[in-house]
Amino acid sequence: GRVAVVMGGSSAEREVSLNSGDGVLKALRARGVDAEAIDGIPALLDAVRAGHFARVFNILHGGGGENGELQGALQSLRIPFTGSGVLGSALSLDKIRAKLVWQALGLPTPRFKALPRGADVHAAAREIGFPLIVKPAWEGSSVGVTRVFDEQDLDAAVELAQRYPGDLLMETLIEGGEFTVGILGREVLPTIKIVPKGEYYDYNAKYIAEDTQYICPGLEGAAEREMQELALRAFDALACGGWGRVDVMRDRDGRNWLLEVNTAPGMTSHSLVPKAAKVVGIDYQTLCWRVLETSFR
Ligand code: DAL
Ligand code: MG
Repeated sequence: GRVAVVMGGSSAEREVSLNSGDGVLKALRARGVDAEAIDGIPALLDAVRAGHFARVFNILHGGGGENGELQGALQSLRIPFTGSGVLGSALSLDKIRAKLVWQALGLPTPRFKALPRGADVHAAAREIGFPLIVKPAWEGSSVGVTRVFDEQDLDAAVELAQRYPGDLLMETLIEGGEFTVGILGREVLPTIKIVPKGEYYDYNAKYIAEDTQYICPGLEGAAEREMQELALRAFDALACGGWGRVDVMRDRDGRNWLLEVNTAPGMTSHSLVPKAAKVVGIDYQTLCWRVLETSFR
């Protein structure tokens, strides 16, 4: 049957998702898959109810496409879809709940505070200590994220993060290296070390700059295996499945710290899972096919 590639939507990552979706759609078609682009959840559900699609390749980033909403709707309609189910999606999109689960299991994640609107952010920041990072709990692609080195910059960071839905997450800024680990089925891809040309791997460094450096594998020997194992444990802990990408910081003492899991990671020309897949001989088209296979259940 026909495959819907659902992309776009109404989250802050709409543009990124359209780019990912464009790549996926072309790759699936090149593989002979009868695939069609659909923009957003309401249009998808209408088309599914009208019997137009047999399965869904979900490449919506953030919002209802990554928080369990889409997954629950499709599950109730008995339409198979790629990637994590309701629980894995919901837990992963909420960075605060993800960290609580990891903490409970003894998996390393930076010290943090979850702050509802109106909380005393200055008291919380003094407890965490500077430098720290302020993020909206429910966004991706570094949208709304600020590194804060000094108390005088805190209010602006909080104001920015609060423009987005969800609580505010304040966590210790781990200084060291930024890594990410792709997961495809039960295969853990080699780690990627991200070396932005500017100070941070922000939205610009992610999608616009051409000078961000990616080293893959990012580590060697036991250190590489250790991070890969941690990533898979973190993924399993959140009840994720199918495919995804786990973001990890490595501090200057070589300790790993879990940041978050992306259950519909970017598939743009700048994105990370395609880079790691390529290193182990999985080209972009094959990667898209392998992701589609995660819906065959
Ligand atoms: N949230 C973006 C799309 C990513 O993780 O790649
Ligand atoms: Mg993310």
